[in-house]
Amino acid sequence: MEQTFIMIKPDGVQRGLVGEIIGRFEKKGFSLKGLKLITVERTFAEQHYADLSAKPFFNGLVEYIISGPVVAMVWEGKNVVTTGRKIIGATNPGDSAPGTIRGDYAIDIGRNVIHGSDSVESARKEIALWFPEGPVSWASSLHPWIYE
Ligand code: PPS
Repeated sequence: MEQTFIMIKPDGVQRGLVGEIIGRFEKKGFSLKGLKLITVERTFAEQHYADLSAKPFFNGLVEYIISGPVVAMVWEGKNVVTTGRKIIGATNPGDSAPGTIRGDYAIDIGRNVIHGSDSVESARKEIALWFPEGPVSWASSLHPWIYE
């Protein structure tokens, strides 16, 4: 089953949105396979966003991510990478539809509350970076009520 990496950014944690965000993924039917509250070092954040190192907003993005604890998660389910990005909404909250996490809870792109892997390959790399110990292995007994 497909897995994705989801991170509630420092603004989401500070604003008390952790329960709301986890609830949206749970209620959809996805399974939580990894969860940690963690404050990361600058070099770790730079590694996570390494593909963006040439962007003008890179330093600001790294400062934002290291400004407080984040909630790092692994979620599992059918098409969870693509569907997870739909639940999150467009990168710029100004373009995010109401009903999405960013559409409902964010205004500025530099405070957009949550990160989700943009491909299965990115998810694999991000899960390996944030969860070197590996996700937790368990199977939900609700599967027959979620998948046909
Ligand atoms: S790009 O330029 O198309 O590669 O960037 P994009 O895919 O839209 O976004 C990648 C991540 O960069 C963050 N981002 C920004 N942060 C701060 N300021 C500005 N201006 C900005 N533009 C993009 C964006 O939120 C994405 O972060 P994650 O954590 O992956 O959602």
